[in-house]
Amino acid sequence: MNSINEAQREYWRTRWAWVERQEQMDLQLGVFGIAAMDALPEISQMDVLDVGCGCGHTTLQLKDRVGDGRVVGVDISEKLLDAARRRSQGDVEFLEADAQVDPLRGPYDIVFSRFGVMFFEDPVAAFHNLRASTSAGAKLSFVCWQGPEKNPWITVPNRAAMTLVELPSRSADAPDPFSFADPDRVADVLHQAGWTNVDIESFTTEVTLGGGVDSRLAALHAYEFSPVKAVVDSSSSLLHEPVVDVMHAALKPHEENGIVKLAGAAWIVTAST
Ligand SMILES: C[S@@+](CC[C@H](N)C(=O)[O-])C[C@H]1O[C@@H](n2cnc3c(N)ncnc32)[C@H](O)[C@@H]1O
Repeated sequence: MNSINEAQREYWRTRWAWVERQEQMDLQLGVFGIAAMDALPEISQMDVLDVGCGCGHTTLQLKDRVGDGRVVGVDISEKLLDAARRRSQGDVEFLEADAQVDPLRGPYDIVFSRFGVMFFEDPVAAFHNLRASTSAGAKLSFVCWQGPEKNPWITVPNRAAMTLVELPSRSADAPDPFSFADPDRVADVLHQAGWTNVDIESFTTEVTLGGGVDSRLAALHAYEFSPVKAVVDSSSSLLHEPVVDVMHAALKPHEENGIVKLAGAAWIVTAST
């Protein structure tokens, strides 16, 4: 294993919520992944790479679409891949690798990702490596988040939590969920990495927190995925209950018929080799 993206490897190694709450997360994020798949041309019989596949939900959905084609999910996190392997019937491959630098068992006709490409230390190198793993005429489609201001489903609970917990400051381009919020940066990264026909479309929808649970459970769900949790876990003075309470209070006004929905916005990015 190389030392590139070491912080990300360590971070994702311990993301238990992605394993324990994967079903809820898949309900929550499902429409975004489908939108990125629907942006592709017909992929039946093609060979597909699912980048940052996590617990493999989209890898299996892609397998349904390709039929006899080959689907490989690559991820830097052994723990998430263990869960992916458990839920698959062995008809897709999972590869533990850093998509930025490692060989990826190509060539692929399609490179896909649902929120798995915003965490590279060097995105140009990563998209160069992905392109080097493709066949001639290959297509890319991924979904990434627009900025925090367009995603109240993330910011409403997190900003409430930040009244109690101080988060380390972030720089706009640092690897994190919002690092591809600026579409000009995304286009620039892809062009520098040699991709062509770059197209970036806005996709907005209401996000159902926790896949359809009340505001108390939605607050717990949001807390488990929040950067605030890591700070609370490493602190000897902070407790999680008051943090979940303020997140709950912020989400309560958005609960209707026992379900919490808030606006979310992503970019659907497509390109060709
Ligand atoms: C936000 S999660 C998305 C997971 C999955 N695609 C989904 O939608 O459920 C981001 C994923 O990217 C993976 N990841 C981060 N950096 C990576 C890298 N350099 N190479 C491969 N995977 C990486 C993480 O381990 C994690 O599974």
